[in-house]
Amino acid sequence: MAPSATAGQNAPMASTRDWFETVAEAQHRAKKRLPRSVYLALVAGTEKGLTSADNEAAFDELGFRPHVADLPDKRELATTVMGQDISFPVLVSPTGVQAVHPDGEVAVARAAAAEDTAMGLSSFASKPVEEVAAANSKLFFQMYWTGDRERILARAERARAAGAKGLIVTLDWSFASRRDWGSPPIPQKIDVRTALAFAPEVLRRPRWLATYLRSGGIPELSVPNMALPGEPSPGFFDAYGEWMGTALPRWEDVAWLREQWGGPFMVKGISRPDDARRAVDAGASAISVSTHGGNNLDGTPGAIRSLPAVVDAVGHEVEVLLDGGIRRGSDVVKAMALGAKAVMIGRAYLWGMAANGERGVQNVLSILKSGMNEALLGLGKSSVHDLTRDDVLVPPGFTRDWS
Ligand SMILES: Cc1cc2nc3c(=O)[nH]c(=O)nc-3n(C[C@H](O)[C@H](O)[C@H](O)COP(=O)(O)O)c2cc1C
Repeated sequence: MAPSATAGQNAPMASTRDWFETVAEAQHRAKKRLPRSVYLALVAGTEKGLTSADNEAAFDELGFRPHVADLPDKRELATTVMGQDISFPVLVSPTGVQAVHPDGEVAVARAAAAEDTAMGLSSFASKPVEEVAAANSKLFFQMYWTGDRERILARAERARAAGAKGLIVTLDWSFASRRDWGSPPIPQKIDVRTALAFAPEVLRRPRWLATYLRSGGIPELSVPNMALPGEPSPGFFDAYGEWMGTALPRWEDVAWLREQWGGPFMVKGISRPDDARRAVDAGASAISVSTHGGNNLDGTPGAIRSLPAVVDAVGHEVEVLLDGGIRRGSDVVKAMALGAKAVMIGRAYLWGMAANGERGVQNVLSILKSGMNEALLGLGKSSVHDLTRDDVLVPPGFTRDWS
Protein backbone atom coordinates (compact mmCIF):
# COMPACT_ATOMS: atom_id res chain seq x y z
CA MET A 1 0.00 0.00 0.00
CA ALA A 2 1.18 3.54 -0.72
CA PRO A 3 2.15 5.71 2.24
CA SER A 4 -0.32 8.17 3.68
CA ALA A 5 -1.54 11.08 1.60
CA THR A 6 0.61 14.13 1.15
CA ALA A 7 -1.01 15.55 -1.97
CA GLY A 8 -2.04 19.13 -1.69
CA GLN A 9 0.69 19.90 0.83
CA ASN A 10 2.77 21.67 -1.82
CA ALA A 11 -0.27 23.45 -3.16
CA PRO A 12 -0.85 27.13 -2.37
CA MET A 13 -3.01 27.69 0.70
CA ALA A 14 -5.31 30.19 -0.97
CA SER A 15 -6.66 30.29 -4.50
CA THR A 16 -4.46 31.78 -7.22
CA ARG A 17 -5.09 32.28 -10.93
CA ASP A 18 -3.81 28.79 -11.57
CA TRP A 19 -5.09 27.03 -8.46
CA PHE A 20 -8.46 26.86 -6.71
CA GLU A 21 -8.85 25.71 -3.14
CA THR A 22 -12.38 24.26 -3.24
CA VAL A 23 -14.69 22.60 -5.73
CA ALA A 24 -17.12 25.50 -5.22
CA GLU A 25 -14.41 27.83 -6.50
CA ALA A 26 -13.86 25.56 -9.53
CA GLN A 27 -17.61 25.69 -10.28
CA HIS A 28 -17.56 29.47 -10.03
CA ARG A 29 -14.69 29.63 -12.55
CA ALA A 30 -16.43 27.09 -14.81
CA LYS A 31 -19.56 29.22 -14.89
CA LYS A 32 -17.57 32.24 -15.96
CA ARG A 33 -15.67 30.31 -18.59
CA LEU A 34 -18.19 28.01 -20.29
CA PRO A 35 -20.86 29.04 -22.79
CA ARG A 36 -24.21 29.13 -20.98
CA SER A 37 -25.61 26.04 -22.76
CA VAL A 38 -22.59 23.95 -21.89
CA TYR A 39 -22.63 25.08 -18.26
CA LEU A 40 -26.36 24.34 -17.95
CA ALA A 41 -25.90 20.91 -19.52
CA LEU A 42 -23.45 20.07 -16.75
CA VAL A 43 -25.54 21.49 -13.91
CA ALA A 44 -28.42 19.47 -15.37
CA GLY A 45 -30.79 17.72 -12.91
CA THR A 46 -34.19 16.62 -14.21
CA GLU A 47 -37.53 18.37 -13.61
CA LYS A 48 -37.46 20.38 -10.37
CA GLY A 49 -33.91 19.30 -9.53
CA LEU A 50 -34.96 17.78 -6.18
CA THR A 51 -32.63 14.81 -6.40
CA SER A 52 -29.76 16.78 -7.78
CA ALA A 53 -30.02 19.25 -4.88
CA ASP A 54 -30.53 16.52 -2.27
CA ASN A 55 -27.42 14.65 -3.48
CA GLU A 56 -25.40 17.56 -2.12
CA ALA A 57 -27.64 18.78 0.72
CA ALA A 58 -27.88 15.36 2.38
CA PHE A 59 -24.14 15.43 3.15
CA ASP A 60 -24.68 18.61 5.17
CA GLU A 61 -27.05 16.77 7.50
CA LEU A 62 -24.32 14.34 8.57
CA GLY A 63 -22.13 15.48 11.43
CA PHE A 64 -18.69 14.39 12.58
CA ARG A 65 -17.59 13.19 16.02
CA PRO A 66 -14.00 14.45 16.22
CA HIS A 67 -11.22 13.63 18.67
CA VAL A 68 -8.69 16.26 19.68
CA ALA A 69 -5.67 14.42 21.08
CA ASP A 70 -3.82 11.14 20.46
CA LEU A 71 -4.32 11.82 16.76
CA PRO A 72 -2.47 9.69 14.19
CA ASP A 73 0.69 11.09 12.60
CA LYS A 74 -0.12 9.51 9.25
CA ARG A 75 -3.30 8.64 7.43
CA GLU A 76 -3.68 5.73 5.04
CA LEU A 77 -5.90 6.48 2.04
CA ALA A 78 -4.95 3.76 -0.46
CA THR A 79 -7.41 1.05 -1.39
CA THR A 80 -8.38 -1.35 -4.18
CA VAL A 81 -11.47 -1.08 -6.38
CA MET A 82 -12.43 -3.59 -9.07
CA GLY A 83 -8.97 -5.10 -8.85
CA GLN A 84 -7.10 -1.80 -9.28
CA ASP A 85 -4.88 -0.37 -6.56
CA ILE A 86 -5.59 3.33 -6.18
CA SER A 87 -3.88 5.92 -3.99
CA PHE A 88 -7.15 7.17 -2.50
CA PRO A 89 -10.80 6.09 -2.69
CA VAL A 90 -12.06 8.61 -5.26
CA LEU A 91 -12.65 7.51 -8.85
CA VAL A 92 -13.68 9.46 -11.90
CA SER A 93 -17.30 8.70 -12.78
CA PRO A 94 -18.18 8.35 -16.47
CA THR A 95 -19.70 11.46 -18.05
CA GLY A 96 -20.73 11.81 -21.67
CA VAL A 97 -21.23 14.73 -24.04
CA GLN A 98 -18.86 17.07 -22.25
CA ALA A 99 -17.82 19.80 -24.74
CA VAL A 100 -15.94 21.28 -21.80
CA HIS A 101 -12.38 21.07 -23.12
CA PRO A 102 -10.88 19.84 -26.41
CA ASP A 103 -8.61 17.32 -24.64
CA GLY A 104 -11.76 15.81 -23.13
CA GLU A 105 -11.50 12.45 -21.42
CA VAL A 106 -7.81 12.08 -22.35
CA ALA A 107 -7.02 15.04 -20.09
CA VAL A 108 -9.21 13.57 -17.35
CA ALA A 109 -7.44 10.22 -17.69
CA ARG A 110 -4.01 11.84 -17.42
CA ALA A 111 -5.04 13.81 -14.34
CA ALA A 112 -6.48 10.68 -12.70
CA ALA A 113 -3.26 8.78 -13.54
CA ALA A 114 -1.17 11.59 -12.02
CA GLU A 115 -3.14 11.21 -8.78
CA ASP A 116 -2.98 7.41 -9.16
CA THR A 117 -6.64 6.67 -9.37
CA ALA A 118 -9.03 4.92 -11.73
CA MET A 119 -11.50 6.28 -14.25
CA GLY A 120 -14.83 5.26 -15.70
CA LEU A 121 -15.12 6.17 -19.39
CA SER A 122 -18.59 6.83 -20.80
CA SER A 123 -19.64 5.09 -23.99
CA PHE A 124 -20.99 8.57 -24.85
CA ALA A 125 -17.55 10.13 -24.33
CA SER A 126 -15.92 12.34 -26.95
CA LYS A 127 -12.60 10.44 -27.10
CA PRO A 128 -11.99 6.85 -28.24
CA VAL A 129 -11.38 4.27 -25.53
CA GLU A 130 -8.01 3.39 -27.13
CA GLU A 131 -6.67 6.93 -26.55
CA VAL A 132 -8.05 7.15 -23.03
CA ALA A 133 -6.71 3.74 -21.98
CA ALA A 134 -3.27 4.78 -23.24
CA ALA A 135 -3.41 7.73 -20.81
CA ASN A 136 -4.62 5.73 -17.79
CA SER A 137 -4.38 1.96 -17.57
CA LYS A 138 -6.78 1.87 -14.60
CA LEU A 139 -9.77 2.25 -16.85
CA PHE A 140 -13.33 0.90 -16.62
CA PHE A 141 -15.59 1.18 -19.65
CA GLN A 142 -19.20 2.26 -19.05
CA MET A 143 -22.10 1.08 -21.18
CA TYR A 144 -25.81 1.66 -21.44
CA TRP A 145 -28.06 -1.05 -22.82
CA THR A 146 -27.88 0.01 -26.45
CA GLY A 147 -28.39 -2.24 -29.45
CA ASP A 148 -28.72 -5.99 -29.67
CA ARG A 149 -26.55 -8.39 -27.67
CA GLU A 150 -24.08 -8.77 -30.53
CA ARG A 151 -23.45 -5.01 -30.73
CA ILE A 152 -23.28 -4.65 -26.95
CA LEU A 153 -20.70 -7.40 -26.72
CA ALA A 154 -18.68 -6.03 -29.65
CA ARG A 155 -18.38 -2.64 -27.89
CA ALA A 156 -17.33 -4.32 -24.64
CA GLU A 157 -14.74 -6.42 -26.49
CA ARG A 158 -13.40 -3.34 -28.23
CA ALA A 159 -12.92 -1.73 -24.78
CA ARG A 160 -11.25 -4.88 -23.46
CA ALA A 161 -8.86 -4.95 -26.43
CA ALA A 162 -8.02 -1.30 -25.71
CA GLY A 163 -7.08 -2.23 -22.15
CA ALA A 164 -10.22 -1.58 -20.08
CA LYS A 165 -9.93 -3.50 -16.80
CA GLY A 166 -13.60 -3.55 -15.87
CA LEU A 167 -17.08 -2.88 -17.18
CA ILE A 168 -19.64 -0.49 -15.70
CA VAL A 169 -23.23 -1.05 -16.76
CA THR A 170 -25.41 1.96 -15.98
CA LEU A 171 -29.06 1.06 -15.51
CA ASP A 172 -30.62 4.22 -14.03
CA TRP A 173 -31.89 6.01 -17.09
CA SER A 174 -35.59 6.43 -17.79
CA PHE A 175 -35.23 9.01 -20.58
CA ALA A 176 -36.57 11.90 -18.46
CA SER A 177 -36.06 15.01 -20.52
CA ARG A 178 -37.78 17.95 -18.79
CA ARG A 179 -36.15 20.58 -16.64
CA ASP A 180 -38.08 23.38 -14.93
CA TRP A 181 -35.28 25.81 -15.73
CA GLY A 182 -35.20 24.81 -19.41
CA SER A 183 -33.04 22.21 -21.09
CA PRO A 184 -30.12 23.62 -23.04
CA PRO A 185 -30.42 22.83 -26.75
CA ILE A 186 -28.02 20.17 -28.08
CA PRO A 187 -27.45 20.76 -31.80
CA GLN A 188 -27.89 17.82 -34.18
CA LYS A 189 -24.52 18.63 -35.69
CA ILE A 190 -22.27 21.65 -35.73
CA ASP A 191 -22.51 23.42 -39.06
CA VAL A 192 -22.53 27.09 -40.07
CA ARG A 193 -26.21 27.44 -39.14
CA THR A 194 -25.80 26.13 -35.61
CA ALA A 195 -22.51 27.95 -35.19
CA LEU A 196 -24.36 31.19 -35.92
CA ALA A 197 -27.21 30.29 -33.59
CA PHE A 198 -24.80 29.65 -30.74
CA ALA A 199 -22.47 32.50 -31.67
CA PRO A 200 -23.77 35.10 -29.19
CA GLU A 201 -23.23 32.95 -26.09
CA VAL A 202 -19.98 31.45 -27.39
CA LEU A 203 -18.51 34.84 -28.23
CA ARG A 204 -19.17 35.91 -24.66
CA ARG A 205 -16.83 33.12 -23.59
CA PRO A 206 -13.73 33.82 -25.73
CA ARG A 207 -11.31 31.75 -23.62
CA TRP A 208 -13.39 28.57 -24.07
CA LEU A 209 -13.62 29.24 -27.83
CA ALA A 210 -9.91 30.01 -28.11
CA THR A 211 -8.97 26.75 -26.35
CA TYR A 212 -11.02 24.81 -28.90
CA LEU A 213 -9.77 26.81 -31.88
CA ARG A 214 -6.15 26.30 -30.82
CA SER A 215 -6.74 22.56 -30.85
CA GLY A 216 -8.29 22.59 -34.31
CA GLY A 217 -11.97 23.51 -34.13
CA ILE A 218 -15.28 23.68 -32.29
CA PRO A 219 -16.49 20.58 -30.40
CA GLU A 220 -17.73 17.67 -32.46
CA LEU A 221 -20.74 15.88 -31.13
CA SER A 222 -19.70 12.42 -32.21
CA VAL A 223 -19.50 9.47 -29.82
CA PRO A 224 -16.62 7.29 -31.06
CA ASN A 225 -17.10 4.52 -28.48
CA MET A 226 -20.55 3.72 -29.81
CA ALA A 227 -18.95 2.59 -33.08
CA LEU A 228 -18.14 -1.05 -33.65
CA PRO A 229 -14.64 -1.76 -35.01
CA GLY A 230 -14.52 -0.52 -38.61
CA GLU A 231 -17.58 1.73 -38.32
CA PRO A 232 -17.37 5.55 -38.43
CA SER A 233 -18.15 7.40 -35.16
CA PRO A 234 -21.88 8.03 -34.96
CA GLY A 235 -23.27 11.41 -33.98
CA PHE A 236 -24.76 11.80 -30.51
CA PHE A 237 -28.37 11.75 -31.74
CA ASP A 238 -27.89 8.65 -33.90
CA ALA A 239 -26.45 6.79 -30.91
CA TYR A 240 -29.14 8.09 -28.57
CA GLY A 241 -31.76 6.98 -31.12
CA GLU A 242 -30.28 3.46 -31.14
CA TRP A 243 -30.45 3.45 -27.32
CA MET A 244 -34.06 4.63 -27.23
CA GLY A 245 -34.99 1.98 -29.79
CA THR A 246 -33.45 -0.86 -27.75
CA ALA A 247 -35.65 -3.14 -25.62
CA LEU A 248 -35.10 -2.29 -21.95
CA PRO A 249 -32.67 -4.61 -20.19
CA ARG A 250 -33.79 -7.38 -17.85
CA TRP A 251 -31.69 -8.78 -15.02
CA GLU A 252 -31.09 -11.88 -17.15
CA ASP A 253 -29.50 -9.62 -19.81
CA VAL A 254 -27.22 -8.14 -17.15
CA ALA A 255 -26.28 -11.66 -16.02
CA TRP A 256 -25.57 -12.62 -19.64
CA LEU A 257 -23.22 -9.65 -20.18
CA ARG A 258 -21.48 -10.28 -16.88
CA GLU A 259 -20.89 -13.88 -17.96
CA GLN A 260 -19.50 -12.81 -21.35
CA TRP A 261 -17.23 -10.18 -19.80
CA GLY A 262 -15.82 -12.40 -17.09
CA GLY A 263 -13.85 -9.63 -15.34
CA PRO A 264 -14.71 -6.94 -12.77
CA PHE A 265 -18.27 -5.78 -13.39
CA MET A 266 -20.12 -2.86 -11.79
CA VAL A 267 -23.83 -2.12 -11.91
CA LYS A 268 -24.23 1.65 -11.56
CA GLY A 269 -27.41 3.42 -10.53
CA ILE A 270 -28.72 1.37 -7.60
CA SER A 271 -30.96 3.03 -4.97
CA ARG A 272 -32.79 0.11 -3.38
CA PRO A 273 -31.49 -2.87 -1.39
CA ASP A 274 -33.70 -5.30 -3.37
CA ASP A 275 -32.18 -4.08 -6.65
CA ALA A 276 -28.72 -4.34 -5.10
CA ARG A 277 -29.53 -7.97 -4.29
CA ARG A 278 -30.63 -8.61 -7.89
CA ALA A 279 -27.47 -7.01 -9.25
CA VAL A 280 -25.36 -9.25 -7.02
CA ASP A 281 -27.38 -12.30 -8.05
CA ALA A 282 -26.74 -11.32 -11.67
CA GLY A 283 -23.03 -11.59 -10.86
CA ALA A 284 -21.99 -7.97 -10.28
CA SER A 285 -18.71 -7.63 -8.41
CA ALA A 286 -19.38 -3.98 -7.55
CA ILE A 287 -22.34 -1.64 -7.47
CA SER A 288 -22.59 2.11 -7.30
CA VAL A 289 -25.38 3.62 -5.26
CA SER A 290 -26.24 6.50 -7.55
CA THR A 291 -29.00 8.71 -8.89
CA HIS A 292 -27.13 9.56 -12.09
CA GLY A 293 -26.29 12.88 -10.49
CA GLY A 294 -30.00 13.69 -10.18
CA ASN A 295 -30.47 13.25 -13.92
CA ASN A 296 -32.92 10.38 -13.73
CA LEU A 297 -36.14 10.06 -11.69
CA ASP A 298 -36.54 13.33 -9.83
CA GLY A 299 -37.71 12.82 -6.24
CA THR A 300 -35.33 9.91 -5.62
CA PRO A 301 -33.55 10.71 -2.33
CA GLY A 302 -29.92 11.83 -2.51
CA ALA A 303 -27.65 8.82 -3.05
CA ILE A 304 -26.00 9.00 0.39
CA ARG A 305 -29.39 8.44 2.04
CA SER A 306 -29.79 5.10 0.21
CA LEU A 307 -26.28 3.91 0.98
CA PRO A 308 -26.64 2.36 4.47
CA ALA A 309 -29.49 0.01 3.52
CA VAL A 310 -27.64 -1.15 0.40
CA VAL A 311 -24.45 -1.73 2.39
CA ASP A 312 -26.44 -3.76 4.93
CA ALA A 313 -27.95 -5.85 2.14
CA VAL A 314 -24.90 -6.68 0.01
CA GLY A 315 -21.84 -4.91 1.44
CA HIS A 316 -20.35 -8.16 2.72
CA GLU A 317 -20.52 -9.71 -0.79
CA VAL A 318 -19.50 -7.00 -3.26
CA GLU A 319 -17.79 -3.61 -3.37
CA VAL A 320 -20.34 -0.88 -2.75
CA LEU A 321 -19.45 2.54 -4.14
CA LEU A 322 -21.41 5.77 -4.03
CA ASP A 323 -21.61 8.65 -6.45
CA GLY A 324 -23.63 11.86 -6.28
CA GLY A 325 -22.97 15.12 -4.47
CA ILE A 326 -19.32 14.61 -3.56
CA ARG A 327 -17.76 18.07 -3.38
CA ARG A 328 -15.30 17.76 -0.47
CA GLY A 329 -12.88 15.29 1.02
CA SER A 330 -15.07 15.26 4.11
CA ASP A 331 -17.99 14.03 1.93
CA VAL A 332 -15.85 11.07 0.91
CA VAL A 333 -15.11 10.34 4.57
CA LYS A 334 -18.82 10.51 5.45
CA ALA A 335 -19.68 8.09 2.63
CA MET A 336 -16.98 5.68 3.76
CA ALA A 337 -18.13 5.91 7.37
CA LEU A 338 -21.57 4.82 6.14
CA GLY A 339 -20.02 1.83 4.41
CA ALA A 340 -18.91 2.85 0.90
CA LYS A 341 -15.67 1.25 -0.29
CA ALA A 342 -14.98 4.31 -2.43
CA VAL A 343 -16.80 7.11 -4.24
CA MET A 344 -16.97 8.40 -7.78
CA ILE A 345 -17.15 12.05 -8.79
CA GLY A 346 -18.89 13.64 -11.76
CA ARG A 347 -19.48 17.37 -11.79
CA ALA A 348 -16.57 18.12 -9.46
CA TYR A 349 -13.99 17.12 -12.08
CA LEU A 350 -16.01 18.65 -14.92
CA TRP A 351 -15.83 22.00 -13.09
CA GLY A 352 -12.10 21.46 -12.63
CA MET A 353 -11.61 20.74 -16.32
CA ALA A 354 -13.64 23.76 -17.36
CA ALA A 355 -11.64 25.96 -15.01
CA ASN A 356 -8.17 24.77 -15.92
CA GLY A 357 -8.07 21.71 -18.22
CA GLU A 358 -6.07 18.69 -17.11
CA ARG A 359 -4.43 20.64 -14.29
CA GLY A 360 -7.87 21.67 -13.05
CA VAL A 361 -8.98 18.03 -12.84
CA GLN A 362 -5.82 17.19 -10.90
CA ASN A 363 -6.50 20.22 -8.71
CA VAL A 364 -9.96 18.81 -7.84
CA LEU A 365 -8.61 15.34 -7.08
CA SER A 366 -5.91 16.89 -4.92
CA ILE A 367 -8.48 18.99 -3.00
CA LEU A 368 -10.47 15.84 -2.24
CA LYS A 369 -7.36 13.95 -1.21
CA SER A 370 -6.17 16.62 1.19
CA GLY A 371 -9.71 17.18 2.49
CA MET A 372 -9.93 13.47 3.30
CA ASN A 373 -6.62 13.62 5.04
CA GLU A 374 -7.80 16.52 7.22
CA ALA A 375 -11.12 14.83 8.08
CA LEU A 376 -9.37 11.59 9.04
CA LEU A 377 -6.99 13.54 11.25
CA GLY A 378 -9.91 15.26 12.98
CA LEU A 379 -11.61 11.92 13.55
CA GLY A 380 -8.42 10.42 14.93
CA LYS A 381 -8.32 7.70 12.28
CA SER A 382 -5.07 6.44 10.82
CA SER A 383 -6.74 4.72 7.88
CA VAL A 384 -9.84 5.01 5.70
CA HIS A 385 -10.31 1.33 6.42
CA ASP A 386 -10.98 2.11 10.09
CA LEU A 387 -13.96 4.39 9.49
CA THR A 388 -17.25 3.21 10.98
CA ARG A 389 -20.79 4.54 11.40
CA ASP A 390 -19.76 5.65 14.86
CA ASP A 391 -17.67 8.43 13.27
CA VAL A 392 -20.72 10.29 11.96
CA LEU A 393 -23.90 11.63 13.52
CA VAL A 394 -26.87 10.54 11.45
CA PRO A 395 -30.08 12.46 12.23
CA PRO A 396 -33.37 10.56 12.59
CA GLY A 397 -35.11 10.06 9.27
CA PHE A 398 -31.89 10.62 7.31
CA THR A 399 -32.24 7.44 5.29
CA ARG A 400 -35.88 8.15 4.41
CA ASP A 401 -36.64 4.55 5.39
CA TRP A 402 -40.10 4.59 6.90
CA SER A 403 -40.75 0.89 6.58
C1 LIG B 1 -22.92 16.03 -17.73
C2 LIG B 1 -23.05 14.65 -17.16
C3 LIG B 1 -22.95 13.55 -18.02
C4 LIG B 1 -23.08 12.25 -17.50
N1 LIG B 1 -22.94 11.18 -18.34
C5 LIG B 1 -22.96 9.92 -17.84
C6 LIG B 1 -22.70 8.81 -18.68
O1 LIG B 1 -22.48 8.96 -19.86
N2 LIG B 1 -22.73 7.58 -18.09
C7 LIG B 1 -22.99 7.38 -16.76
O2 LIG B 1 -22.99 6.24 -16.28
N3 LIG B 1 -23.22 8.43 -15.95
C8 LIG B 1 -23.20 9.68 -16.45
N4 LIG B 1 -23.38 10.75 -15.61
C9 LIG B 1 -23.56 10.51 -14.17
C10 LIG B 1 -22.21 10.47 -13.46
O3 LIG B 1 -21.45 9.34 -13.79
C11 LIG B 1 -22.40 10.44 -11.94
O4 LIG B 1 -23.30 9.42 -11.61
C12 LIG B 1 -22.89 11.77 -11.38
O5 LIG B 1 -22.35 12.87 -12.08
C13 LIG B 1 -22.52 11.87 -9.91
O6 LIG B 1 -23.02 13.02 -9.33
P1 LIG B 1 -22.14 14.35 -9.12
O7 LIG B 1 -22.09 15.02 -10.45
O8 LIG B 1 -22.91 15.10 -8.11
O9 LIG B 1 -20.77 13.92 -8.66
C14 LIG B 1 -23.31 12.05 -16.11
C15 LIG B 1 -23.39 13.16 -15.27
C16 LIG B 1 -23.27 14.45 -15.77
C17 LIG B 1 -23.35 15.61 -14.82
